[in-house]
Amino acid sequence: MIEIRNLKKAYDSTTPLKDVSLTIRDGDVISVIGPSGTGKSTLIRCINLLEKPTAGQVIFNGEDITAKGADIRKARQKMGMVFQSFNLFGHLTVIENLMLAPMDLLKMSRQDAYNKGMELLKRVGVADKALSYPDELSGGQKQRVAIARTLCMDPEVILLDEPTSALDPTMVAFYPG
Ligand SMILES: Nc1ncnc2c1ncn2[C@@H]1O[C@H](COP(=O)(O)OP(=O)(O)OP(=O)(O)O)[C@@H](O)[C@H]1O
Ligand SMILES: [Mg+2]
Repeated sequence: MIEIRNLKKAYDSTTPLKDVSLTIRDGDVISVIGPSGTGKSTLIRCINLLEKPTAGQVIFNGEDITAKGADIRKARQKMGMVFQSFNLFGHLTVIENLMLAPMDLLKMSRQDAYNKGMELLKRVGVADKALSYPDELSGGQKQRVAIARTLCMDPEVILLDEPTSALDPTMVAFYPG
């Protein structure tokens, strides 16, 4: 499903990814662990091309999305991402954060997007915060909203950057893998 070939990412002062190759198949759950600053977030951001790799290729469902002219928007719709810093839209309520992409990108009706959003908020245990703004949530609540927002798009791939960093151990147990 995703093949990473000889990926390199160099910044001016550091090269966190030197030569990374990896094959991820349907159904695989891959965890990347390592000390702070070693390039875990950089790897995830290179997979959906939020960062442009310095060299190497990312092949997604058989298509080289690092090639010139590749339709990266289409690929990104199928790759959900939960950011390390959550990146919720501060001017929207929690439920609006969840409804935005399904309505905008998948052309889902408002009602369907709402129903789906509420169902996912229930699943992660923050349905009571649907009408709150992100600033009114705790770190762990924000993180759960960010996870629900990603699931709203039914992505083929979910890229999770430290998905349980803000959750307490009893919460983490809800999320296998
Ligand atoms: N935009 C950038 N410009 C320059 N250097 C960067 C940039 N983004 C990351 N780096 C550097 O690349 C290295 C890897 O960063 P990265 O965020 O991938 O680490 P990480 O493994 O995710 O760490 P953490 O566990 O703290 O989240 C770090 O040394 C960081 O300072
Ligand atoms: Mg990181």
